Amino acid sequence: MQAVQVKPELKVLFTRAQILARVNEMGAQITRDFAGQPIIFVGVLKGATVFLSDLARAVQLDATFDFIAVSSYGKAAHSSGEVRLTKDLDQSVNDKNVILVEDILDTGLTLTYLRKLLVAHQPRALKLAALLDKPSRRVQPITADYTGFQIPDHFVVGYGMDHAERYRNLPDICVLPPELF
Ligand code: IMP
Ligand code: MG
Repeated sequence: MQAVQVKPELKVLFTRAQILARVNEMGAQITRDFAGQPIIFVGVLKGATVFLSDLARAVQLDATFDFIAVSSYGKAAHSSGEVRLTKDLDQSVNDKNVILVEDILDTGLTLTYLRKLLVAHQPRALKLAALLDKPSRRVQPITADYTGFQIPDHFVVGYGMDHAERYRNLPDICVLPPELF
């Protein structure tokens, strides 16, 4: 298989092999936790799409996909940054087992907002899966039920994650150096 060349200015933090090994473990855990029950993966657009596609294929359960989108204001500058829903669910999650799938748990504002929104629909179970977690950045006290890797306060791109919409298709997770901001 032809490897996609990582941009020379980016430093690889997790290779695609490391990511896949961890995502497969997460999928096995979800399979055990929901043994025999159907689940709905709800991905947060757009960053979670690559993670969701690997995670879902590592889960051996009857599953469907849905997607939700948000935009946040004043994220970088204000810890009170607001989150706004820009795309709602297509299907009802009432009485369903929901796994909310996010790329990064950072300040926690996004997942706190989305968890509240989904809880209002009274799912049977609601679990949070985040590929990456930056605990040092947390503003809202929230933890994921399934976490891929904890990382320090670096800005990362690749495997679905972007900077100004670029780099989402890099297969590895890379650190974007501050001079490229
Ligand atoms: P939170 O509301 O601060 O937890 O924001 C989480 C969202 O911020 C993630 O879904 C990402 O879209 C974005 N984000 C946070 N850190 C990074 C990063 O290092 N690279 C790319 N996106 C990030
Ligand atoms: Mg995101």
